[in-house]
Amino acid sequence: MRAWGASAALLLAVAGCGVIHPLTDAPVRPPAVIKPAVLAKRLIAMQPGWPVKPSKPDCRRAKCVALTFDDGPGRYTGHLLDILRRRGVRATFFVLGENVAADKGRNLRRIVTEGHEIGNHTWNHAALTTLPRERIRNQLERTERLVRRLTGIRMRLMRPPYGATDRRVADVTRREGLAQILWSVDTLDWRDRVPAVVARRAGAARPGSIILMHDIHRTTVAAVPRVIDKLKHKGYTFVTVSDLYGKPLVPGRKYAER
Ligand code: NI
Repeated sequence: MRAWGASAALLLAVAGCGVIHPLTDAPVRPPAVIKPAVLAKRLIAMQPGWPVKPSKPDCRRAKCVALTFDDGPGRYTGHLLDILRRRGVRATFFVLGENVAADKGRNLRRIVTEGHEIGNHTWNHAALTTLPRERIRNQLERTERLVRRLTGIRMRLMRPPYGATDRRVADVTRREGLAQILWSVDTLDWRDRVPAVVARRAGAARPGSIILMHDIHRTTVAAVPRVIDKLKHKGYTFVTVSDLYGKPLVPGRKYAER
C-alpha cells in the first residue's frame, strides 16, 4: 500500500514537469493562465507615470460630466487617447467587437491602462430591437469574450446602437449583467463634421450629463480639446460613466444622465 502510494506520487511529480523539449531536454512549461483580474492589474501597473488609483470626485457635490466615445476603436482613437492623457481627462469608450478585433487590442489596452472605462456596443452595430433574443445575446457575448481576453476586463456597461432598446433588450442585458447607458447630450458629430459645432453642442452639458460622441471621426477628435476647454472653464470634472454615478449600476436598467 505504501509502495503504491509512493509510486503514484512519483508519477504525479513527473506528470507535473510537463513535456520535455526535443532539443534542449529542458522541461517545457505550459503557458501560464492569467486570471482576467490579474491581467487587468498588470496592464494598469505597466503604464508609467499614470496614477493607478485616480482620485475620484464625489459627483453629488462636484460638477461632473461623462464624455463617451462610440463605435471604435478606430484610426483616430490613438490620437484621442494622446489628447485625453495630456489633459488628464477620463472618458468611456463603447467599443464594437469587430473593431476591437481589427485593432488587435492595441488601442483597447491603452484605453484600460490610461484609466478610461470600456462598455459593450455590440459586435457589429446591430439594431438590437430587430433581433431575436439569441442573437442579441450573441452580439454582446462575442464582444465581451474578446474584450475580456485582451484586457481581463469584465464590462458592466453597454450602449445599444442607435439607442434602440425595448423590454426584450433590457431583459437580455439584465441577464448579461450590463447596465444600458444612453446619453443626455447628443453632439450629432456623425452628421455635422465640424469641430466648432461639435464643441458647441458638447458645451451645453449640465452637471451629470452623459455626452455622446464617436471616436471614428477625425473631426470629433479635433473637437475634443475645445470640448475640454469649454467644460473645464465652466468648472466641470471629467469622469467615467461608472464614476459619474459612484455606485454599481443595475444590470438591464437605462441611464441617460445622473
Ligand atoms: Ni454606435
